[in-house]
Amino acid sequence: MGDFRLKRRVGFVHGTLNTVALGLYVGSWVMRRQGRRDGARLLALAGFSVSGASAHLGGALVHKEAQAVTHVVDVFPPDGFTRVASSADVVEGRPLRVTTGDVPVVLVRDGGRVYALAERCTHLGGPLSEGSVEDGAIRCPWHGSAFRLKDGQVLDGPSAHSQPCFEIRETDGAVEVRPGRHWA
Ligand code: FES
Repeated sequence: MGDFRLKRRVGFVHGTLNTVALGLYVGSWVMRRQGRRDGARLLALAGFSVSGASAHLGGALVHKEAQAVTHVVDVFPPDGFTRVASSADVVEGRPLRVTTGDVPVVLVRDGGRVYALAERCTHLGGPLSEGSVEDGAIRCPWHGSAFRLKDGQVLDGPSAHSQPCFEIRETDGAVEVRPGRHWA
């Protein structure tokens, strides 16, 4: 299930099956109220089967394909400020990949100010350092999610999770980062 469009189709089928299962259970409830117990049992059984198939698809999306699961927070950065680059290396509008501990970070200078976000996109782990900077946001090169530089908020999907950010300190020509509130 490597293709993103295929995953979206599977997600659509998953949602449709849930709706069908709900309809079957409601039908079963109505028949039970009317005293048609055999028919109600059949509809409930059908609802159970459809919801089971739907659960299988939903489970595969979440547990095997990690859909709707953030892809960032599987490693944690060191506490406190860590030097990650020299100020001169962070050029206006050009994302720069650095690391703090084992965590990749993307630095972006925008309007003279430096911002730092987790480098792996929360959607499927795309490399934000290869993305583009536009209107105070960085856009992932894989599927186009856009995250606000100042707080990592999702401005454009498909990502459902904001991008964890870092606090920045520029002193003596060095850029230092420390984990922001997302990492708490
Ligand atoms: S990996 Fe899909 S939008 Fe970034």
